[in-house]
Amino acid sequence: ENFFTQNNDFLDKKIMITLGPTQEAIDPVRYISNQSSGKMGLAIANAFKARGAEVFLVAGPVTLPINSGDFHLKKVKSAAEMYQSAQKLHAQMDFCVFAAAVADYAPAEVATEKLKKDDSQMSIALKKNVDIALELGKAKRPGQVHVGFALETEKEEFYAKGKLDKKNFDLIVLNSAKEAGAGFQHDTNRVKIIHRDGRMTDSGLALKSDIAELILDEIKNAPVWI
Ligand code: CTP
Ligand code: CA
Repeated sequence: ENFFTQNNDFLDKKIMITLGPTQEAIDPVRYISNQSSGKMGLAIANAFKARGAEVFLVAGPVTLPINSGDFHLKKVKSAAEMYQSAQKLHAQMDFCVFAAAVADYAPAEVATEKLKKDDSQMSIALKKNVDIALELGKAKRPGQVHVGFALETEKEEFYAKGKLDKKNFDLIVLNSAKEAGAGFQHDTNRVKIIHRDGRMTDSGLALKSDIAELILDEIKNAPVWI
């Protein structure tokens, strides 16, 4: 048991966490999605709950054991639905953690009937989805803390810092896709936590539950940027 888990340092704070992938419908039986398991987001949710917070989850389709008694849980499928739910909660939150792997694009049109096979090739026109963290970042009020995630395969710190600035995050959790034992389906991970002032903490390879505690410690110590 981690030393920090029960000390109620987030007592009565309101936390919103987006987590999991989104599903973008192609037709009634098909969708575009990604490999996010939602494990890191749930580990953060459990850590906040254990430290006294009231936690609001906006979850894409995940197969995780979410203890519904511990959280306010809104289940969504598409990025548009996730945005709608997150937007409703946003103003009342003290902390927002954007852990979802939101699909960047969705089919421009959803077919009402199942698509039939035809030629040897086919293509689907895609339109850009709403950027949930970016839009809510514009609405961030004084004192509110926004935490972002970034998964990169190259120029990791450069891209992560760009997202930190662009989306008005207070800190960003950088996942390297190349790290052994880290990533979507594992119970372990390795992250770098980057603050607005450039300060960086490396978790080393660790259990997602321990990384969650570290992220909460970093959130608590973050200077709040307006
Ligand atoms: N995010 C979001 N809504 C989106 C896309 C991303 O809220 N439509 C959030 C993610 O939850 C994460 C952060 O923005 O906290 C960065 O997501 P990422 O996919 O790494 O960045 P993108 O801005 O989508 O850039 P790219 O995928 O091109 O690297
Ligand atoms: Ca993306």
